[in-house]
Amino acid sequence: MSVLTIVGAVGDLVAIACFIQGLILLNAPATARAGNRLAMAGMAIALIFAAWQTLGAAAVPIVVGIVVGGAIGVVAAMRVKMTAMPQMVALYNGAGGGAAALVSTVEFYHILGTAAEGDPVVRVSLVLSAIIGCISFTGSIIAFLKLQELMTGRPITYPGQQVVNAIVALAVAGLAVWLVALAGAETWWCFPLLLVLACALGSLFVLPIGGADMPVVISLLNSFTGLAVAITGFEIGSSLLIICGALVGASGTLLTVLMGRAMNRPLTNVLFGAFGSGGGSEPAGGAGGGPQNVKSTTADDVAIMLAYAQKVMIVPGYGMAVAQAQHSVKALADQLEKRGVKVSYAIHPVAGRMPGHMNVLLAEANVPYPALLDMEDANPEFPTTDVALVIGANDVTNPAARNVTSSPIYGMPILDVDKAGNVIVLKRSMRSGFAGIENPLYEMDNTSMLFGDAKASVDELTAAVKAL
Ligand code: TAP
Repeated sequence: MSVLTIVGAVGDLVAIACFIQGLILLNAPATARAGNRLAMAGMAIALIFAAWQTLGAAAVPIVVGIVVGGAIGVVAAMRVKMTAMPQMVALYNGAGGGAAALVSTVEFYHILGTAAEGDPVVRVSLVLSAIIGCISFTGSIIAFLKLQELMTGRPITYPGQQVVNAIVALAVAGLAVWLVALAGAETWWCFPLLLVLACALGSLFVLPIGGADMPVVISLLNSFTGLAVAITGFEIGSSLLIICGALVGASGTLLTVLMGRAMNRPLTNVLFGAFGSGGGSEPAGGAGGGPQNVKSTTADDVAIMLAYAQKVMIVPGYGMAVAQAQHSVKALADQLEKRGVKVSYAIHPVAGRMPGHMNVLLAEANVPYPALLDMEDANPEFPTTDVALVIGANDVTNPAARNVTSSPIYGMPILDVDKAGNVIVLKRSMRSGFAGIENPLYEMDNTSMLFGDAKASVDELTAAVKAL
């Protein structure tokens, strides 16, 4: 074994250790930044050693790729808004899937005419990673276009859609079997056809899914990318790719399952339910319907209620992200804490539009981690909470999930804000949330609505509390 190979293997091992430890650190908000940095270091090590292992002329394109790709990544990450993070993840995920498909394509033509060509294991892995990589590539691009509103976020459906999708899927499967079974140079033209069909399948699969369901889809496609990369690792004999692909595939799968569970929606419903048009465009209950007996309140009245409370629970949701109100929320909490009020934050696992959305925003505003309560810890606190301040959250507080069996969100675990002494809901109108349904919370005796943009309302509240 050459020195080059040994040094390369050691580099791969260090990079893998960084990725695994980084993932472990990402488990808790307090260590998440360190986890991210460690994973970044792991990626840098992996790239440097990849260039090292191809010392010579072949290293030049790799170094150019690292510099150009790294520069694009840094600029994009610095410019992206927090609310646009899901589409950025979609793009990067698509790039990963596309890269795996490209490696398989190169490898396919590389082995044509060699002894490896006849090896069914090699052919199966080449074909599989090309198909999965292409599906992930185009599926992620459609997810990006929907989230970036470059195309409609509504589910795109048409008569016979499932039949069309099934025909394309069958064509992909048939061509794949044929490519594996029929080793030989005459199959050279089939591979591009397989790539085109798999790309078509990826887009057809995501088109009927609503924009607001994209985070779940991206997470699923992320697991596909991981799988494609791991298979690519077998093709080119890279343990680094095998292990990293397995990590991505496993974490993507787990995240998809957890998101589905937190929304009480089976994956089949997300993928084939044509649910979620982006949410919030229709008044709850439709024309003439919707909550009738809601009480609206003023910032001055709410400020008095908050200032003289003992225990306040802040319940953030998607509206806080839209309004970018996290810093204002922290300023209000500081003001209340100065007066001796105990302030905590109740975090629902699918509040917002991406996993950990609320945690990331509140961490950005330097809210201390121990003040963030998971749903399981927050719910027992509501009966002894004086004021639940709901800031741009809707579905995750909807009591219909507990007791209205016909509700589309029936069974979804929710934050029991209705059990607090007083509930103040900050939102702009009576429009629905993502699920497009009425929220009976708004008509309850202990609930009052403070209408307006969340940031403006919270700033008003802070000023009013200060003035007391
Ligand atoms: P939603 O139910 O979507 O409600 C958000 C509320 O924020 C809306 O009712 C909206 O009312 C209000 N809002 C929007 N902009 C605002 C602004 N500038 N100021 C004040 N209020 C504003 O949000 P949620 O309670 O966080 O629930 C999340 C939903 O997304 C769940 O149904 C969940 O299943 C779904 N989902 C989540 C994820 C993840 S991973 N988090 C992924 C996919 C789907 P107005 O328009 O009246 O202001």
